[in-house]
Amino acid sequence: MTRPETSAARHWHETLRCPRCRGGLCRLSAELLCCTACGASYPVDRGVPRFVPEDGYARSFGYQWNRHRLTRLDSFTGVPVSRDRLLAESGWRPEDLRGVRVLEAGSGAGRFTEVLCEMGALVTSVDISSAVHANAASNGRFPNLRLVQASVYDLPFEEESFEVLVCLGVVQHTPDVERAFKALFRCLRPGGRFCVDVYAAPVAYPHLRQVLRPFTRRMPPARLYALVEAVVPRLLPLARRLGRTPKARPYLTRLVPVATHDRLGLTDPATLLAWSVLDTFDWLSPRYERPQTRRRLRRWAADLGLREVAVERRRGLYVVRGVK
Ligand SMILES: C[S@@+](CC[C@H](N)C(=O)[O-])C[C@H]1O[C@@H](n2cnc3c(N)ncnc32)[C@H](O)[C@@H]1O
Repeated sequence: MTRPETSAARHWHETLRCPRCRGGLCRLSAELLCCTACGASYPVDRGVPRFVPEDGYARSFGYQWNRHRLTRLDSFTGVPVSRDRLLAESGWRPEDLRGVRVLEAGSGAGRFTEVLCEMGALVTSVDISSAVHANAASNGRFPNLRLVQASVYDLPFEEESFEVLVCLGVVQHTPDVERAFKALFRCLRPGGRFCVDVYAAPVAYPHLRQVLRPFTRRMPPARLYALVEAVVPRLLPLARRLGRTPKARPYLTRLVPVATHDRLGLTDPATLLAWSVLDTFDWLSPRYERPQTRRRLRRWAADLGLREVAVERRRGLYVVRGVK
């Protein structure tokens, strides 16, 4: 984080726990934390504690969010796309979040982090990839934000230490979705509210991107990005035209593997192009993409004893909401 270090910031590592043994952490230096129980040490990279290797399976996400640090932020586009999505999916009101301890898992470049911080929540945002540094550069100005590079499989926090859990666009991109989904809830206190969304299966219509992914997901991120950046401007006009043709939309748009965003209220051509490049890369690059069925999500929620669970279909997603 780029803000000057206050005393509170200097001591916040004391609320972290060793992900291996859950021991407390002490600060050996500005760049190193150490577990007081098992002795494991963890680097602090540019102010962000890191509990995972620098370069894991989510490397493409680190690449995309550092290249597109601002693209998705409401403060950058001037259109409240992320705010509207967060409120619509969760059903929460901004005032419900003020002063509340929120865990945001898989924060990417921080478009929802920004919204949560602006609402006055006490936000802890976690991402496994170097996207945390994009988030820090954009949102490090918020005194109510803490950022950690860690995995949802091994969150470096005390049990039941958050009142709200938000995880959007993440768990389908993990190698073991059931384990990731279930691990999220360890840090939510009983009675805490949650909103987790997951790509929905079965996919309504097959999409050409699913044919391309076995090849593209193996490509080095920079090479794939260069390809996407070259192809998207050529295909975007066609993809948008098909998207505007009511009868063709469900079928033919699936043949053009370019993401379009005509229904979000974005109008600036440069913004629409940047979103298309970003989302097309986001379709093609992740190592894992594992949509889930409603039945499976309901079973996992039942296994965890979650209450008031609603599983709602929103376009290609299932949104799972409820209370722990
Ligand atoms: C599609 S992005 C979504 C980011 C953000 N939630 C958004 O909607 O803009 C998925 C994010 O999940 C992160 N991710 C994947 N596996 C993870 C894990 N095991 N723990 C934490 N984050 C993970 C990726 O690094 C990536 O930033």
